[in-house]
Amino acid sequence: MPVINYIEFDGSKYSVEVAEGANLMQGALDNMIEGIIAECGGCCVCCTCHCMIDPQWKDAAGSITSGEDELLEMLSERQDNSRLSCQVTVTASMEGMVVRLPESQY
Ligand code: FES
Repeated sequence: MPVINYIEFDGSKYSVEVAEGANLMQGALDNMIEGIIAECGGCCVCCTCHCMIDPQWKDAAGSITSGEDELLEMLSERQDNSRLSCQVTVTASMEGMVVRLPESQY
């Protein structure tokens, strides 16, 4: 299982194994990592699973769908590397990925 490094806004770092096929939101929730609220449970309607993926893993994270893009547009804190963690499926190529979590979700 790939190790994903979740970093909270205050710098707290959590390196956890997440099963391939799961998504980044599930990986955070299963490991009790704060900073992912996930109000809609991964249905891509709430924006409370926002995260920023470090640029070197942009390609590994896969492409963004139009629906995800529209939701991210609603976030004032959107950055170039913003994603909705429920829409990013974990693969072996994500080994060591760094996922930063926004202060707004605490
Ligand atoms: S959990 Fe609601 S959009 Fe991702």
